[in-house]
Amino acid sequence: MSLLKKDKSRIVDPVCGMTIAWKNAALASSFRGKDYYFCSERCKAIFDGDPEAVFSMKAAREEGAEEERTESLDNMADELAHEIRNPLTSIGGFSRKVHEMLPENHPGRKYLEIVIENVARLENMITKLVEVKTLGVLQTELSDINEIIAETVALFEKEFAEKNVDVNLELADKPLIHLDKDKIKAAVAAIIRNAVEAMEEPPRVLKIATNMGDDQVEITVSDTGKGISEDHIKYIFDPFFTSKMYGPGLGLKFAQRIIQAHKGTISVKSKPGEGTVFTIRLPLNSS
Ligand SMILES: Nc1ncnc2c1ncn2[C@@H]1O[C@H](COP(=O)(O)OP(=O)(O)OP(=O)(O)O)[C@@H](O)[C@H]1O
Ligand SMILES: [Mg+2]
Repeated sequence: MSLLKKDKSRIVDPVCGMTIAWKNAALASSFRGKDYYFCSERCKAIFDGDPEAVFSMKAAREEGAEEERTESLDNMADELAHEIRNPLTSIGGFSRKVHEMLPENHPGRKYLEIVIENVARLENMITKLVEVKTLGVLQTELSDINEIIAETVALFEKEFAEKNVDVNLELADKPLIHLDKDKIKAAVAAIIRNAVEAMEEPPRVLKIATNMGDDQVEITVSDTGKGISEDHIKYIFDPFFTSKMYGPGLGLKFAQRIIQAHKGTISVKSKPGEGTVFTIRLPLNSS
């Protein structure tokens, strides 16, 4: 009973998915050393009949709900881009015109400059959003994944030097795979950008490793940054999810879309205060 009381706000029936009111949570079964609680005799009987089947049904239900949530967020982002684009173009265009018309010493100029600057930021965001949506056809060719990593890292060379980031590469042998080089570079760059932004304090160590499996190549990008809290981690691939002042929170969505277009996966593990590891897995026969 003390266990029930402690967890009372979080009791969910594993069979029907209902949250159970504390007073109705008396029906319990144990499975693999854990206790589960049920809303009815019926749910308990189903669970006791085949707990494994209940767990796989629960996983499928959660996956379905997650897919629906992602799809509706993506649709919302598309609609938003579509609705905002035209008025934004007018605001930007007219502000620039009025700015040109005002004499050099007019006090209104500096306000308009702020408007123009912010419109440019929003236009940039819309452009990113459209890019996420219209990835286009993949131009795949047999590519050396290590070369892609080296070329992507080279884009950050100056920044790494300025910020004292130690880059540690552990690259696999013969990492040849059919993929769209430029798009994979853009995806890896979005992950590296986040890693650099997360390493606010030393030590700043970025490790990138490639590993060849029988049917896939794995790329891991690890940082020693501030990490991601448990509350946030499930949202980081959502469009517009950001913890940064100017986000806009599209980098990972973009990276995820590119990886998915290659029939691959991207996942994350993080320890707040210690760092984060992103893992990309690409099938060798993705084309
Ligand atoms: N390596 C990391 N370490 C810590 N937090 C991270 C890391 N990568 C992503 N995040 C978190 O995930 C959020 C979403 O990342 P995402 O790249 O999609 O957007 P963003 O970096 O905020 O903005 P942008 O659109 O410019 O990329 C970040 O704001 C940050 O909170
Ligand atoms: Mg980012």
